[in-house]
Amino acid sequence: MPNAYISGTGGYVPPRVVTNDDLVQQYGIDTSHEWINRRTGINQRHYAEPGVGTAELGEKAARLALESAGLEPQDMDMILLATLSPDYCFPGSGVLMQRRLGLCDGPKARFVPAMDIRNQCSGFLYGMGTATSMVQSGACKHVLLVGAETHSAAIDLSTAGRTVSTLFGDGAGAVIVSATDEDRGIRGWWLGADGRGAEVLCQHVWNISKRPFIPVDENGVGQVQPEEMFAHMEGKRVFRAAVERMCEAVLTACTAQGITGEDVDLWCFHQANMRINQYVAKTLGIPDDKLIHNIDRYGNTTAATIPLLLDEAARGGRLQRGMKVAMVAFGSGYTWGSVICDW
Ligand code: UT7
Repeated sequence: MPNAYISGTGGYVPPRVVTNDDLVQQYGIDTSHEWINRRTGINQRHYAEPGVGTAELGEKAARLALESAGLEPQDMDMILLATLSPDYCFPGSGVLMQRRLGLCDGPKARFVPAMDIRNQCSGFLYGMGTATSMVQSGACKHVLLVGAETHSAAIDLSTAGRTVSTLFGDGAGAVIVSATDEDRGIRGWWLGADGRGAEVLCQHVWNISKRPFIPVDENGVGQVQPEEMFAHMEGKRVFRAAVERMCEAVLTACTAQGITGEDVDLWCFHQANMRINQYVAKTLGIPDDKLIHNIDRYGNTTAATIPLLLDEAARGGRLQRGMKVAMVAFGSGYTWGSVICDW
């Protein structure tokens, strides 16, 4: 059985920066830099321009990952795209990204499978489990795995929505998971879910059980209530569940690998709230200098947080061959996971 390793990384955030002060001044939200920074660690986030969607952000990150791996889009045997903000309800953004990457064009067309992963903040780690299995089984030599989000289009940028909307930002991160005979790569992945938390963090704009599905007024115009248009979150419940499940995910991974936290050189935690990550690190005795962050600059980019962290660490020289890397995430579903990788 071949090993699966990360042969390339890429990251992209759209150019427009929105600071905490901009949320007050440009959008008129009753909030403050002080509140957002103290409770979450966020200073700014990036928003995509109108007309730019998730497949486009994903494509940009994917091209950088391909370049760093020295591979072409046509070398990929499968495409996985993790997102909670797909371009359309269906089809998934994976096929749109495949098309954008030129895989459907000309004599070099490759109609490889393209699949969306809908596991929110844990989506990238669910993708890592899937990509690793595809490579280790021999089904694929190279899998393109992207986490991409365009949150800014679908958040309530008014005071009523501030508890959720101030947290999220747009961006994309990508990795190439490749086969190797070398003794390195993804050593294990552990995923979990607890559907009892499904409505604690959710967005119900699409609710197929509803009749009428979308109420229509006398002019034939569909009516969607504000509480259905935007994400709903019981923040404190999610916070507590995140701390518990992330600690559990770390312990499960370390026990399965026969390692302790001290054996890990670099920790990549999902970036939902700096305070969540500080609690987890403190509980487990993880020192600050082994933990990397990007929430201060990007906010919560959901499926993109961990691949963006990996890309920054790899390009910045922080991540070196032979290092043991742990990735941990928790999010809507509830879903969670951890991955241990020898870089
Ligand atoms: O990525 C997936 C998972 N997501 C998470 O893990 C997020 C988990 N939850 C959290 O990070 C935190 O619960 C939040 C950052 C979302 C909220 O922090 P909190 O300390 O739990 O605040 P809260 O919701 O209890 O709100 C406290 C107060 C409220 O005012 P009152 O009722 O005490 O007068 C809120 O209305 O803060 C108010 N508030 C704000 N004020 C200024 C909520 N959001 C804001 C805001 N600016 N952006």
